[in-house]
Amino acid sequence: MEPHFHYEIKFLKPQHLPEILTLQNLVIENLPDKECYYQEPLAFFEKVLADGKNCLGLFEAGDLIGFHMACLLEGNEAIGVDIGLGGSEVSLIVQWGPTAIHPKYRQQGLLKMLADHHLKIFRDRGYEHICLTIAPQNYASLSSAIRQGFLIKRLTYKFGHLLRYVLHLDLKRPCKAPVCQVRVTGSDLESQQFLLSLGFYGSGVLRSQAETELLFGHDGFSGDSFRKSVVRRQCS
Ligand SMILES: CC(C)(COP(=O)(O)OP(=O)(O)OC[C@H]1O[C@@H](n2cnc3c(N)ncnc32)[C@H](O)[C@@H]1OP(=O)(O)O)[C@@H](O)C(=O)NCCC(=O)NCCS
Repeated sequence: MEPHFHYEIKFLKPQHLPEILTLQNLVIENLPDKECYYQEPLAFFEKVLADGKNCLGLFEAGDLIGFHMACLLEGNEAIGVDIGLGGSEVSLIVQWGPTAIHPKYRQQGLLKMLADHHLKIFRDRGYEHICLTIAPQNYASLSSAIRQGFLIKRLTYKFGHLLRYVLHLDLKRPCKAPVCQVRVTGSDLESQQFLLSLGFYGSGVLRSQAETELLFGHDGFSGDSFRKSVVRRQCS
């Protein structure tokens, strides 16, 4: 269904904090799987809202019905390191999340609309890298991110104990068509972990009635890179 155009997208500011927390509580209460969403502490929201020009809110008739947070990374913060970014690139990384849409307004393409708007903002500002984490079982978020060009680069524990894909979008170097592609069922995390350890990346998600499937691509093995991947896996 196409989103209606009476929705308004605005930058979130510190004064929106009470509404954000109320919406977050409602979203968490309604989650069928609580592990899909990590509840950030108050200090996180205070930090990302401080300058009022990075996080987006979706409003209907003045009420907040969705948010899409963004955090500019400073120094060698873990998520950039997770996907092999460091040094001078670090200052150009933005991390997205958390994001939420009010349960009454789901499946209208509103996450997609907010995320596309956010992507344009950071592209226009000259950012090169966007990272985000998504629970493997969160099809809605995964599908939206992969459609925007994000690639799954890692599968690891984040926020202490929650299993997450780490996704990366390189805004300056769009992904080329992979040299080879493998399909894996969404629940087969062991095979996905193995493919990631060999240098594959997740680049597609398909859903039939029975199961979610992921597409993993690879840019081509040289003998040396293949040997290194296998040695890395044997050592881990
Ligand atoms: C994840 C979330 C933000 C998606 O919002 P949304 O506006 O409903 O998403 P969209 O309408 O843009 O849909 C994106 C895709 O997910 C699918 N989808 C959305 N909700 C779905 C559901 N409940 N069941 C199955 N598919 C769903 C849509 O059909 C669409 O699929 P497609 O890309 O194959 O067409 C919303 O479900 C939510 O707030 N969830 C709880 C919080 C959360 O998990 N946040 C993400 C982690 S920080």
